[in-house]
Amino acid sequence: MSQELDDRLAFALEAARAAQELILRHYQSPDLTVEAKPDESPVTLADRGAEELLRERIAAAYPRDAVFGEEFGETSGTSGFRWVLDPIDGTKAFVSGVPLFGTMLGLEQEGECVLGVVRFPVLDEVVYARRGGGTWQQRGRAQPRPVQVTATSALRDAVVCFTDVESWVRTGRGEAFQRLCASCRMARGWGDCYGHVLVALGRADVMVDPLLNPWDAAALVPLVTEAGGAFVDWSGRPTIHGGNGVSSNGRLQAELLTILGGHDP
Ligand code: IPD
Ligand code: CA
Ligand code: CA
Repeated sequence: MSQELDDRLAFALEAARAAQELILRHYQSPDLTVEAKPDESPVTLADRGAEELLRERIAAAYPRDAVFGEEFGETSGTSGFRWVLDPIDGTKAFVSGVPLFGTMLGLEQEGECVLGVVRFPVLDEVVYARRGGGTWQQRGRAQPRPVQVTATSALRDAVVCFTDVESWVRTGRGEAFQRLCASCRMARGWGDCYGHVLVALGRADVMVDPLLNPWDAAALVPLVTEAGGAFVDWSGRPTIHGGNGVSSNGRLQAELLTILGGHDP
């Protein structure tokens, strides 16, 4: 069991590094075309190219594994493993030439999130975890180091991250956003996967997102939980299918979910 996961972790780390090279060829390129998807979110050749690259590698190395990716949907498998891919999480940052976007590879085994890799191409940094193995950060080719969530126990002392305000208002949570900002020590828009990874690294206490798809969340679950924290939806369920998500150090979760409760009038 661990060997199967360790092999897939080594594979995922290499694949994410290859995706990094592809993505960096497009980063801040004046020729980059930005298209709008049906939900009006942006997508580029880099998003599609990176997912194609990851899929080709998975098909070659693990042909029996299923794949579920943001840009190319679902391919079934028979091994019990399913890769959940977001080739560029934070495409708005990517197309703006801002370095805080990441390539995310999650792996489910019989529906459980057991492995996650998030690589930040511009930062040349990766954070990864597999079930039972702790969470690790590697900068460049340096020795990986284990990381842990904070020990902050009250929201008034907490650093809270979010992606944007518009998604809170659009989902009827504008008032919850204001309550949250008023209740914590500092709220910053260090968003997308970067915000969740800050929680795993112990640099922020909480990251909240009112709109999340499974591919936005699958890689984060092992990263945050193996670092000692928790990833849940806004009802407190440990799922990537709730449509929203909260990463925290665990201690703050109850206070946080109380503040997030309820919709705008
Ligand atoms: C987005 C990010 C963001 C979340 C959005 C997603 P993308 O992903 O994960 O944090 O709030 O719902 O669409 O489009 O940059 O991969
Ligand atoms: Ca995403
Ligand atoms: Ca994406």
